[in-house]
Amino acid sequence: MSSPTSGTPQPQYYARHIFFCLNERPNGEGCCALHGAKAAFDHCKTLVKQAGLAGPGQVRVNKAGCLDRCAAAPVAVVYPEGVWYSYVDLADIEEIVESHLKNGQIVERLRTPPELGR
Ligand code: FES
Repeated sequence: MSSPTSGTPQPQYYARHIFFCLNERPNGEGCCALHGAKAAFDHCKTLVKQAGLAGPGQVRVNKAGCLDRCAAAPVAVVYPEGVWYSYVDLADIEEIVESHLKNGQIVERLRTPPELGR
């Protein structure tokens, strides 16, 4: 894939953007919703707000549908770094907020193994 080559580069609207897969499958197949994704998303949103990190130029926390890495569920991805996380509990979310979203330090122990896809 090539990069855009025309136009003036714009400053990023958000410094960091985290997307949580909240996909739910009614047929009982594995999905992020079965692994506490909604609670993790809510917790992340609350922590980001409480820390004063929410808003333009700072951090945005968003819901996403299936990100097609269901084998690593539950997953979230942070841009612009493109770092994928497979978290386990709410303490992991606290670490991602404090370390990565606030201070730009990737939480290596929670990174999604590169080979895990759907
Ligand atoms: S269900 Fe979450 S990545 Fe597919």
